[in-house]
Amino acid sequence: MNLIVAVDNNWGIGRDNKLLASIPGDLAYFKEKTTGKVVVMGRKTLESLPNRRGLPRRTNIVLTRQADYQAERCIVVHDEAELAAELSKYASDDIFFIGGESIYRRYYGLCDRLYITKMYADLGADAFMVDVDRLDGFEVLFASEMHCENGVEYQFFIYGRKTDGSDRTDQEI
Ligand SMILES: NC(=O)c1ccc[n+]([C@@H]2O[C@H](COP(=O)([O-])OP(=O)(O)OC[C@H]3O[C@@H](n4cnc5c(N)ncnc54)[C@H](OP(=O)(O)O)[C@@H]3O)[C@@H](O)[C@H]2O)c1
Repeated sequence: MNLIVAVDNNWGIGRDNKLLASIPGDLAYFKEKTTGKVVVMGRKTLESLPNRRGLPRRTNIVLTRQADYQAERCIVVHDEAELAAELSKYASDDIFFIGGESIYRRYYGLCDRLYITKMYADLGADAFMVDVDRLDGFEVLFASEMHCENGVEYQFFIYGRKTDGSDRTDQEI
């Protein structure tokens, strides 16, 4: 499984349930990586998307504890067991956790690949991703050249799980 996220200097990911910056190159990268795949998100992230709808050309899975929650283009699951049952229908490599904070924190430890866009700015976040550079379990497999858009310098990284399997959480899905 995979995770994809854009972080600022402090591993901040959002503020007031919105993204920290609008970077067209990063949105295009996100679209390229996730189109045709399965994306898993928390209910608040879904509600931050245009028209509160699932993303087009992707299988959208939304986690919420609300029993009667419905959203266009989305498969709604209500707990981790239901999510695990749904995810068992798809190839692990096709699954992307796309946020927000609660989803990243719970599931990064189950991912083999982390697609992390580092935005080199302090963007005043109130939601955060785990600082992967402080973990032993992942290593950088790829670092892109530097880009700059809308005044923000940024770089794409792909992290992979170290082969000794350290830091894998013991909670399988
Ligand atoms: N930078 C990025 O790449 C990126 C990407 C995505 C999101 N974000 C940011 O992340 C922030 C949102 O993060 P967040 O943590 O507040 O919200 P979130 O993870 O998007 O959604 C949280 C909600 O998901 C549901 N949920 C979470 N775990 C669950 C579980 N185990 N079982 C059932 N339901 C569960 C709950 O919904 P109910 O309350 O309905 O029960 C919970 O309130 C925003 O600022 C957003 O912009 C950033």
